[in-house]
Amino acid sequence: MARSDSGRVVIEVDPKTKRKLYASLALSGSTLKGWFSTVAEEYCTYGKTASLFQKDSLISPPTLAVGTSYRTQKKYSVVSMFSGCGGMDLGFGGGFEIFGKRYPKLPYEILWANDLNEAACRTYKKNLGDHIHPGDIWNLISTMPKKADVLIGGFPCQDISINGKGVGVSGARSGLYRAMVAAVDKLRPKVFVAENVRALLMKSRSDSLKQVVNDFSDLGYTLSVQLYKAVDYGVPQIRERVFIVGVPNGRPKFLPPAVERNRETWMTSDEAIGDLMDLVEDPAINHVWSRANVSPEQGNRKISANKPAHTIRAECHGNIQFHYKLPRRLSMREAARIQTFPDNFIFDSKLRETERQVGNAVPPVLAWHIANAVHRNLNEDETRSAKPTNSTRKKNV
Ligand SMILES: C[S@@+](CC[C@H](N)C(=O)[O-])C[C@H]1O[C@@H](n2cnc3c(N)ncnc32)[C@H](O)[C@@H]1O
Repeated sequence: MARSDSGRVVIEVDPKTKRKLYASLALSGSTLKGWFSTVAEEYCTYGKTASLFQKDSLISPPTLAVGTSYRTQKKYSVVSMFSGCGGMDLGFGGGFEIFGKRYPKLPYEILWANDLNEAACRTYKKNLGDHIHPGDIWNLISTMPKKADVLIGGFPCQDISINGKGVGVSGARSGLYRAMVAAVDKLRPKVFVAENVRALLMKSRSDSLKQVVNDFSDLGYTLSVQLYKAVDYGVPQIRERVFIVGVPNGRPKFLPPAVERNRETWMTSDEAIGDLMDLVEDPAINHVWSRANVSPEQGNRKISANKPAHTIRAECHGNIQFHYKLPRRLSMREAARIQTFPDNFIFDSKLRETERQVGNAVPPVLAWHIANAVHRNLNEDETRSAKPTNSTRKKNV
């Protein structure tokens, strides 16, 4: 390989490999230059962001994830609401590594994000960029961009959650889903993704679900309302969340991502955090733990070494689960691992705030799978609009 100062890279490959390469690229819709630039950039970023705890481990060269098809190099613009520390946003951006697996960058650009919580915004800024605007959504909604391809947001769940009072979307906090409805009306995105807790599907919350579905549908959107088990997508945690994905009526339906694990292959707690066992407490990497006494409240269970962990909760007031082997509760770094945050994602906050940010987040790995499926949907939509219809075909003859 010869490299000149101009930035040109010339590589000699045998003709058979060249033919195979061009055939694969033709299928994916990418160009050789585009493909090389994406992979090279990811490799450089990936090399820099290796696990904090396995600095010397051998990093294998990147491969595009199975199922990722970059038909175009086009980036889709995203607006993010109720962004928290950025779990869902990290998943949409991709380009991170966890459990020795690389989740490639996805072609999205987050233009604008918002959260009320200052500490969550600090963490977001530190890891994802300056495009987050702290403050109440109703005060800032007029400052969001006028257009975006995709809108994402996990609206507050306290009034819907089984741990809350169950007032549903008539409550002040979960009623904030109305800000997402207003944003869909304003941005008219090609896809929107709204996340909430499993309880939204309970019979006792059926009025809330009906209200949410009606309000989004009234804007001319077709919805996929589905329960996702994070553990089926490579998250070492029994966490279930509802995602409402909307596309404008008449556009291709959203198809949820295929699961990649089952009960036999779920990732265990030991696989996820076993290598952190000898690490001393270290606030610089959020390896700190709560010393809250065992209380009659929930959250005092021990996780099992050979099973996925229980759901990491936001409002547990220090009552996070206990380690399966050590005489202490889980550290924030361990909780972050269980939520699939990479080791280089540092929370810029003290223990209680970090607990809230980690527990509130959509696991980035689950968000990555959903973002990938959204990308497939956007591609399908573009391919369909690019195909000549019978009437345009006739006109062109
Ligand atoms: C479930 S969390 C979202 C977590 C995020 N999706 C993630 O993956 O990290 C809901 C967020 O809504 C924020 N929030 C609550 N009330 C708000 C308001 N009035 N305006 C803006 N954000 C608000 C909370 O601070 C919290 O971070």
